[in-house]
Amino acid sequence: PGKPGRPVPGTDFDPVAPNSADAVTIPDGYEQEIVIRWGDPVLPGAPRFDFNKQTAAGQAKQFGYNNDFVGLIPQDAGGWRNLLVVNHEYTTETDMFPAGTYDANNPTEEQVKIAWAAHGLSVVQAVRDPRGGLKVVPSRYNRRITMDTEFEVRGPAAGSEYLKTSADPTGRKVLGTQNNCAGGVTPWGTVLSGEENFNQYFANAGTVTDPVAAARLKRYGLSGAASTRKWERFDKRWDVAQEANEVHRFGWVVEIDPHDPNSKPVKHTALGRFKHEAANIKITKDNRVAVYSGDDERFDYIYKFVSKGKYKKGTSAYARRHNSALLDDGTLYVAKFTGDSPASEIDGTGKLPSDGEFDGYGEWIPLASGNESFVDGFTAEEVYVFTRLAADKVGATKMDRPEDIEANPVNGRVYAALTNNSDRGAAGKAGADEPNPRNGNRNGHVLEWEEHRGDAASTKFSWRLLLVCGDPATADTYFGGFPKDQVSPISCPDNLAFDPYGNLWISTDGNALGSNDGLFSVPVDGPNRGQVKQFLTVPVGAETCGPVVTDDVVLVAVQHPGEGAGAANPESHWPDGGSANPRPSIVAVWKKGRSGAGKIGVR
Ligand code: FEO
Ligand code: CA
Ligand code: CA
Ligand code: CA
Repeated sequence: PGKPGRPVPGTDFDPVAPNSADAVTIPDGYEQEIVIRWGDPVLPGAPRFDFNKQTAAGQAKQFGYNNDFVGLIPQDAGGWRNLLVVNHEYTTETDMFPAGTYDANNPTEEQVKIAWAAHGLSVVQAVRDPRGGLKVVPSRYNRRITMDTEFEVRGPAAGSEYLKTSADPTGRKVLGTQNNCAGGVTPWGTVLSGEENFNQYFANAGTVTDPVAAARLKRYGLSGAASTRKWERFDKRWDVAQEANEVHRFGWVVEIDPHDPNSKPVKHTALGRFKHEAANIKITKDNRVAVYSGDDERFDYIYKFVSKGKYKKGTSAYARRHNSALLDDGTLYVAKFTGDSPASEIDGTGKLPSDGEFDGYGEWIPLASGNESFVDGFTAEEVYVFTRLAADKVGATKMDRPEDIEANPVNGRVYAALTNNSDRGAAGKAGADEPNPRNGNRNGHVLEWEEHRGDAASTKFSWRLLLVCGDPATADTYFGGFPKDQVSPISCPDNLAFDPYGNLWISTDGNALGSNDGLFSVPVDGPNRGQVKQFLTVPVGAETCGPVVTDDVVLVAVQHPGEGAGAANPESHWPDGGSANPRPSIVAVWKKGRSGAGKIGVR
């Protein structure tokens, strides 16, 4: 990078200062509005939301809890009508039910069923307001996907012995999806959504004595007796001791077709089973489909799937069916990152090595292709169902919590958010390496790679760190070489998006610098590469999710505002204000213009 240049289109706004307000704070000259909140109507007959009188039947027709990924899919060239697809990652029962009514040791059946209905996804039609925001409207597209929605299992592990249960002897039909974290809109207009921390919903893994089964459960984070939410009391499928295979039916990438409200959603087993943060697509040079996905756990891996068949352009029903089927047959790879600096120069403090960059080269190690396994001791089926254990065997690089991974539509490079890893370098754990250069990494980093010849089908790549996050005033941070006295502090990068100019936008989860989470822009090319600017902050206790950045609107999902304070004494009253309990909600932000919305980040 040379000298800082003139403001880059898309990022030319006055950054907001870090703060701890119970509000969404946006730059001067911008406006905001709530698009939809937890409990708002999605389907006809949805009751008006009443925090004190929630029911499972009502929740199944209302917008779910803890909105995470947001996909905005235009239905016309002007983007006036859109499908908004939103993940509802998880429930926080102590904040959801009126004070004194929820006993974590003894939830009622109705409370558990409310939680089942509050998980999953929502699809709503949203119409652009010429003055700026987005309005959710009643529409035939509106849909709720909950723990009761039937999914079709597809790909090489469909029908596997590992997926059969007493309720589904075919191993091809699963009710529901859970812990849907981030996701991606496919080029054919559907949504891929990652089932992330599915382990937390299952009870009694600690009772499993078979050593192979126990090791598999442990590697996926399952242990102990009762689950936190006690769902196992109302459906035995959540009890590993009674239904050993139900747990294998979660941890997949699911696909939802929002254009067809009657479509059956799909679990794609060819993409492997792990704690999928998200799944995003890049088309290869020969028109196949590559899918990138991170496994969000300390010391876990980055994966890529490349389809066998070729992609057909368009979003017609035919194109959607054809392209969706591509995700059922291909090769699943895991990433190995190698640094180009001597290991002795990576001292774990974040100090740059003598070549001035954390960078190097890498390779994609194949795990399985169709019904063929490349991992000793694993059938192909086992590679797909126990992907973490297969990847352990092939020397993949243990990363600092791989979250969202997304290809830049302008420069073609791929970006991964690595949220943090306080265990890096701890006793008995892997120490710093060039791609994860800090021990006790509290603030995370952002990695960029270029596939060989820019082709997403390549098995080799070069990489470098774009950001080593944290307080720019401290020596352990790096902002792409940009002067650190001219950037916003950033901590715990999580979800990624690109604006139409190719600038990267990063939302954060768990700001370790003491102020609220937020959304940041950063140019990745030219003299302003690394110039991180904070566009907004979210209310106290909240995580910033689902960013969508178009030329004239920014959408963020404000997840778990005031989380953990409990319903009696809420820490946040956002967005309803007064003494209201907080409600996870989607917010639209736009620039005030003379007639309608102006361009985001353009003066
Ligand atoms: Fe649900 Fe990895 O964040
Ligand atoms: Ca280097
Ligand atoms: Ca996330
Ligand atoms: Ca997160």
